[in-house]
Amino acid sequence: MKVVMVGAGYVGLVSSACFAELGHCVVCVDKDTSKVAALLEGKMPIYEPGLEEIVAHNVAAGRLSFAVSVADVAAGTDAFFIAVGTPPRPGDGEADLSHVRAAAAEIGTCVQAGSVVVTKSTVPVGTGDMVEFVIRSVRANNNVEVVSNPEFLREGSAILDFMKPDRIVVGTDSLWARSLMGKLYEPLTAEGATLLNTSRRAAEVIKYAANAFLAAKISFINEMADFCEATGASIDEVSKGMGLDRRIGEAFLNAGPGYGGSCFPKDSMALLATAHSHSVALRLVESTIAVNEARKRAVGRRILNAIGGVGNGKKVAVLGLTFKPNTDDMRESPAISIISSLQSAGASVTAYDPEGMRHARLYLRDVAYAADAYECVEDVDSVVLVTEWDEFLRLDFRRIASVMRQRVFVDLRNAVDVSRLAAAGFAVHRIGHPQAPSILPRSAVRPQAPQSKTLSANGIPQI
Ligand code: UDX
Repeated sequence: MKVVMVGAGYVGLVSSACFAELGHCVVCVDKDTSKVAALLEGKMPIYEPGLEEIVAHNVAAGRLSFAVSVADVAAGTDAFFIAVGTPPRPGDGEADLSHVRAAAAEIGTCVQAGSVVVTKSTVPVGTGDMVEFVIRSVRANNNVEVVSNPEFLREGSAILDFMKPDRIVVGTDSLWARSLMGKLYEPLTAEGATLLNTSRRAAEVIKYAANAFLAAKISFINEMADFCEATGASIDEVSKGMGLDRRIGEAFLNAGPGYGGSCFPKDSMALLATAHSHSVALRLVESTIAVNEARKRAVGRRILNAIGGVGNGKKVAVLGLTFKPNTDDMRESPAISIISSLQSAGASVTAYDPEGMRHARLYLRDVAYAADAYECVEDVDSVVLVTEWDEFLRLDFRRIASVMRQRVFVDLRNAVDVSRLAAAGFAVHRIGHPQAPSILPRSAVRPQAPQSKTLSANGIPQI
């Protein structure tokens, strides 16, 4: 089948390469001529493990190509995908649909009867109606169906997520469009992938609802981590015990510095804005956003507590800047607010990230960038692990400790083997663990030892 993908951003490029890998003939179109020129030379605009290889392989096989105009490549297309950006509109946080509208209008000029136009971009419920209206107003009486087919790709594992999806959601009431979409995904469903047919509006809501739920799960476990710190339990054990309940599931129960990235923060704000416009209150979504914002600020204060309460004259090494490992994406990364609160308190910051430093320069000021983790920690008072890249877990912590001024290690992801850190002589501060009393917000007025003889009203010893 022939696919035209409008948008060579993260979702468009990964989806194009994967559809080609499934055997379809794909043209990925982007208005950005320099991006297309780079792609034609085999240069990727983003870092995503495996992407360069899968693109090169399919270009060589003649199944994947790049272009700058939809009209030039439209002939014989079965499915036009819209995979353009929907950034938050300044002010109200609603998704800006101008790129979607423009893509629909461009497709409208050349789409033939019997083709589908598929929205892959994350768009507010009802956007499919708008796309349909735009296409029909350009091409009246055409037998074209507009389908919603949201993506569920995680940065860093996007190719795997496409090739081995938990589910494929196809939103349309048209039987022939369902059948066409079924054929497109047949190589995946033949291997057992679940394809769920829904109405177009339900498909649009599923994407936002799933992201909002996952964001809430993270905010929940982060709150439980605070509770564990205050009560002397370990969040690792609590997460494990909760996750073994199949109704809860073990994924997304890792406490940390708060979620970031291009999706959860943006999509939950957009969901809220759409709900407001329908006069619906989404209090859980609202709280999730507030908890996450507060957390990013609180984590900065915790680090300051760990290094003695004041930042003046202190040097802090930050390992990991991207919002998660295996990406170069800095959007909404917790590292941004953490570093800014350290700097506001007078600390100086050195940083290292395996892939994120080029983009980090656009988000951070006055940071000294190191060539590797060992250079980053030279002469610092504290190391803060913000992003759990694999290479940080394998560091030689004795070597790290030997070049630091003070041996304080703050692991915001609970990712490093604590016994290795302890063996290297570090005072270790972890999220949601009782051994980190000095990073509790109220540590200054609380005893540092985890066992006090004070009893609560019902006779439980307090920490
Ligand atoms: C997310 C969704 O997972 C994906 O389905 C959707 O299509 C796009 O948005 P992504 O933003 O790439 O994907 O990253 P994800 O792996 O979901 O992580 C998002 C954030 O949550 C990261 O900052 C991550 O560090 C954080 N996180 C995730 C936690 O803090 N704890 C967890 O247990 C899981």
